[in-house]
Amino acid sequence: MPPEGIDEQFSPRIEIDVAGIHFENPVLTASGTFGYGQEFAQLIDLNQLGGICVKGISADPMEGNPSPRIYETEAGMLNAIGLQNVGAERFLTEKLPFLRTLRTRCIVNVFGYSTEDYVRAIEILNQGEGIHGYELNISCPNTRAGGMVYGNDPHLTAEVVAASKKAARYPLIVKLSPNVTDITELARAAEGAGADALSLVNTFVGMAIDVETRTPRISNVTGGLSGPAIKPLAVRMVHQTYRSVKIPIIGIGGIASAEDALEFIIAGARAIQIGTANFYAPETALHVADGIREYCRRKRTHLSDLVGTLKLPNETRAFKVSREE
Ligand SMILES: Cc1cc2nc3c(=O)[nH]c(=O)nc-3n(C[C@H](O)[C@H](O)[C@H](O)COP(=O)(O)O)c2cc1C
Repeated sequence: MPPEGIDEQFSPRIEIDVAGIHFENPVLTASGTFGYGQEFAQLIDLNQLGGICVKGISADPMEGNPSPRIYETEAGMLNAIGLQNVGAERFLTEKLPFLRTLRTRCIVNVFGYSTEDYVRAIEILNQGEGIHGYELNISCPNTRAGGMVYGNDPHLTAEVVAASKKAARYPLIVKLSPNVTDITELARAAEGAGADALSLVNTFVGMAIDVETRTPRISNVTGGLSGPAIKPLAVRMVHQTYRSVKIPIIGIGGIASAEDALEFIIAGARAIQIGTANFYAPETALHVADGIREYCRRKRTHLSDLVGTLKLPNETRAFKVSREE
């Protein structure tokens, strides 16, 4: 007997297109929390994932910050890894061949410290076969613009997105920083400069102190806060952004269950990413995909019909903007 409320006859479609990329299911793993994919091959069936966003790649290899680089907080973690990575060329020769063997979509997260850095990384990565899209991490300081963070300034955001879009051979997803007063302003800047989709959010700047030694818990002093603690903030930002742009949104922030993911989807996300949960429960993404399928079957809906169907108190009908896809 199927569990109560589950209609065995109805077969929901949970595959989805975002930015022209076809995902078998809407669950991706978030950049920096899933290595280059291969590290998790012994733990879960990678082909069951909708997509893998690999660790942020820069044109040149980077060593990252000194330790301690991670500190566990209440309902989350602080990290200041410092964007350690193998660089674009080694990514192509050492990491991409494995990722190419999977059915799962491969999204390469890209960053730089100047617009030219971003473009250079993309030009190198363009030579690789088996990449399905780029995710631009704009939570980086522009060293030429006095260390101003790209993602905090609409003009810098537009500049780096336009240059990257022009260079990119694959669709461009722009990953927004939540450390801003009004995320919709940055979302519109990215959309206007040619982003094919947005992903949000990256980590929130935070800090923790050891009161015995009166020293910061991580060597970088501040770090990025992620995990369940940030979920309500991230859901709110997806909701606001969905009402401000027409391009598709990928929701990220503290997702550890199907119900968490569904909150983002109902708020307007076409797909979601799992980050911090991969560290303590690597099978989370697979459970989330199963739970979304089960929910869709119970509600007799296909995933694409569920996106952005939040019912607001003063609206009699579910809010839906006309969207590109
Ligand atoms: C250890 C660690 C490393 C990360 N590295 C990157 C990165 O290289 N590029 C990036 O865009 N986001 C990076 N992130 C941010 C995550 O991809 C994600 O946006 C964030 O953690 C929020 O999701 P979560 O609450 O599910 O972890 C990193 C997060 C963590 C915890």
